[in-house]
Amino acid sequence: MPITRRAALLSAAALPLARPALSQSGDPFKVGLIVPMTGPSASTGRQIDAAVKAWLRANPAPVAGRRIEVVLRDDTGTAPDVTRRLAQEMAVRERVRALAGFGLTPLALAAAPIATEAKLPMIVMAAGASVIPSRSPFIVRTSFTLPQATRPIATWAAANGIRTAATLVSDFAPGLDAERAFKEAFGAAGGRVSLELRSPLRNPDYAPFLQRVRDARPDALFIFVPSGEGSALIKQFNERGLREAGIRLIGTGDVLDDDLLNDMGDGVIGAVTSHHYSTAHDSPENAAFRDAFRAVAPDMRPNFMAVGGWDGMHLLAEALRRTNGDPDGTKLVDAMKGLAWTSPRGPMSIDPATRDVVQDVYIRRTERRDGQLWNIEFDRVQAVKDAA
Ligand code: PHB
Repeated sequence: MPITRRAALLSAAALPLARPALSQSGDPFKVGLIVPMTGPSASTGRQIDAAVKAWLRANPAPVAGRRIEVVLRDDTGTAPDVTRRLAQEMAVRERVRALAGFGLTPLALAAAPIATEAKLPMIVMAAGASVIPSRSPFIVRTSFTLPQATRPIATWAAANGIRTAATLVSDFAPGLDAERAFKEAFGAAGGRVSLELRSPLRNPDYAPFLQRVRDARPDALFIFVPSGEGSALIKQFNERGLREAGIRLIGTGDVLDDDLLNDMGDGVIGAVTSHHYSTAHDSPENAAFRDAFRAVAPDMRPNFMAVGGWDGMHLLAEALRRTNGDPDGTKLVDAMKGLAWTSPRGPMSIDPATRDVVQDVYIRRTERRDGQLWNIEFDRVQAVKDAA
């Protein structure tokens, strides 16, 4: 009987994912980058891939004698089984020394057991549900978490005349995290959530949800939808006349994603969001990042997914430097714990207890400047942890 692809994979699954003995110093350090390059979250993959290429171009020198080499795989963003299989192939066939990427929470969760079994650092550059790092001691996150990004806008809203709010989130783990964090923080600051709505993750029609919000007439609508979805929702927000009805738009920065923002139209001017990264962030590190990104992707604006990819590469390289080039997964993760650096987003570090990202979260207002739309930061909460 011919060995089918599936049978071959199943037998690969039965193999212990043992690492070979210490590889020779001077061997390349291989990183398996798994992101959606096609499908509904393709913008996440394109952003991270471009940022990783930009980082490699800007940092060509070997690290502790090793050249960093990245192997890219498209998991299409919709099937956790595919992400898991690709992670396994990277570990067994490609013999990568670290896994990276992970565009959505369900995909990161699917790959977590592979990281544990193969003892490979797994750098989560995109996904944002709180639970992720608890699923493997080898996971370290350089993106953000939804509670981290949500609480500052909830507190800001309550302090700025918003008494009632509706929430509208995508119905999957990060959306539920955002919904809960908003309700808690807004309530604690004296606000009241009057309507809670969840839209389907796949092929959502936002019109009926927005109509319900319009009818309920809250002071503001808080929104979380994943990167890439913002345009469809904002189009409906504009068409349904929520702004004219006096309902203010607030949310996490995912909604007013820099990748899409410029095409959203003037209806988003004045919206206030909180997030860890804006392309407009004013710092020398961000200017260098934007230049490096432009060199590989001249037609794209780097968004918060891109900065997660850039910092993930920095984290891997810094850990490898600290182990003097030893690629042992446990040693690399240990070296990542507590690392702190100035990212294009601002100061950030890895919490040594949780392996999660600690970072400043900025309050931003959408403005038109020099003919383009930007999220302009005007306040910040420093060193925010996931459950802050
Ligand atoms: C996630 O799946 O965790 C996720 C995806 C896109 C976002 C945020 C979170 O913008």
